[in-house]
Amino acid sequence: MKKIVIANLKMNQNIDESKTYFTKMVANFNGDKCDLIICPPYTSLSIAKFITQNSSIRLGAQNVCDEEFGAYTGEISAQMLKKAGADYVILGHSDRRNKFKESDKLINKKIKTSLKNGLKCILCVGESLADKNTGKTYDVIRKQLEEDLRGLYENELESVIIAYEPIWAIGTGNNASVKDIENSAKLIRKVIFDNFSEKASRDIQVIYGGSLNQKNYQALLYCTGIDGGLFGACSLDPKVFLEILNSVK
Ligand code: PGA
Repeated sequence: MKKIVIANLKMNQNIDESKTYFTKMVANFNGDKCDLIICPPYTSLSIAKFITQNSSIRLGAQNVCDEEFGAYTGEISAQMLKKAGADYVILGHSDRRNKFKESDKLINKKIKTSLKNGLKCILCVGESLADKNTGKTYDVIRKQLEEDLRGLYENELESVIIAYEPIWAIGTGNNASVKDIENSAKLIRKVIFDNFSEKASRDIQVIYGGSLNQKNYQALLYCTGIDGGLFGACSLDPKVFLEILNSVK
């Protein structure tokens, strides 16, 4: 199976910058190497859709409203994102959980609304440093997964990718170790086993994110139980990112 690589561009790139970025990506990305999903800001989705239309690059959004339409000033709906070119949406990112106080209950609703409208979900889970140091990683991940995925049918998990993103590793330069990642992938699959089935625990796609870069991706993307990676800062420079993408096997 090809590795899944996801780029979370966060709040970077205006439309002009995205035009340059996506043009470079389309011209130089070898689609045989991995499945690539790029998540630009909302305002760049349409231009990214236009530029990537004949390529294998897929697009994702970085958030969505839990409601489908109506008086939610400043929000964006799943259907709007789909029409603008997104096939995926990142949910439960620690930026959203911590800076915007998103609860598991809200994330669960966002997942259901996204799936209903044909958006696949990239669900981020992960523990804080304090949780890790007090041995709570397992409990935190279990709680997040159980609450975020509550009420989903097993077949809907085919449209969900779980990203293990320890908060202490995001944007810090301190990536998790192979051992941490393999343990967490095992935990994630165990929770899926307990709440869904053995088949679901085998089939669910689990990726790692947190300070992935040119130096560590070879080791971290190939951990046991890991199907790919979610890149933040490292995905912003097309030259650096393309070198990684074109050498993933
Ligand atoms: P980072 O971001 O690669 O810059 O640590 C990862 C993420 O936020 O998903």
